[in-house]
Amino acid sequence: MGYLQTDVTKVTTKVLQNMKVNGKKIAMITAYDYSMASLVEAAKIDVVLVGDSAANVMQGHKTTLPITLDEIIIYATSVVRAVSRALVVVDMPFGTYQGNSKQALASAIRIMKETGADAIKMEGGEEILESIQRILSAGIPVMGHLGLTPQSINKFGTYAVRATEDEEAERLQRDALILQEAGCFSIVLEKIPAKLAAEVTAELKIPTIGIGAGPSTDGQVLVLQDMLGITQQFKPRYLRTYGTFGEDISNAIRHYIADVKSGDFPNEKEQY
Ligand code: KIV
Repeated sequence: MGYLQTDVTKVTTKVLQNMKVNGKKIAMITAYDYSMASLVEAAKIDVVLVGDSAANVMQGHKTTLPITLDEIIIYATSVVRAVSRALVVVDMPFGTYQGNSKQALASAIRIMKETGADAIKMEGGEEILESIQRILSAGIPVMGHLGLTPQSINKFGTYAVRATEDEEAERLQRDALILQEAGCFSIVLEKIPAKLAAEVTAELKIPTIGIGAGPSTDGQVLVLQDMLGITQQFKPRYLRTYGTFGEDISNAIRHYIADVKSGDFPNEKEQY
């Protein structure tokens, strides 16, 4: 299958860079546990993101703010056990890097040492540059994240599309160049106009990964539970679902309950 990076045994930041140069799209998806990460790895995804979206889909929080460093480390450790080929990127949780570059480095080192992941991701531009530089100087690869950065939801006040006005669009373009100059290996662009994402992608040498940022980014990312149709009541325009697994799981559980209640399960073959 020509669209898969079947020729690599390990996806590295260098492989992603080559994919951009060669015009090959990068597929990234989130995972938070061993079982799902095994399936994602078997399907030959390029990048697995242990996103702080775990706060939403695994923990049931309304925002991504509550997840802690200890918690994301547990998720990431489980994912890394399942993945050998894909690049594993772990989100730095809210409050573990903003405003204190020494704390940022300590947080990033904990993630790398305790999980065995390949890289970390941080939300923000110039305002977190010192933290990014300190982490990069320790040899830890950093993926940036611009546009709708959910850890700033209380500042934005809305999950609406970002950078629709010139001022914010120009700031985003500046921030993207600052992150590239600092040494980030890739940048996630979340929920920004497709035209702006195309311009940023064309301007940068490093790959961009879009979510709600149109077709021109170098890759795409979706939250696993969203694209599988497990997440209920979350249907943004950018989301394409590849199944109705929420319904399928509920139906399977209903079926199991009915079989237990009726005495149909276990049958003669299902006993010793
Ligand atoms: O936490 C996450 O899942 C993310 C992606 C949506 C990019 O940051």
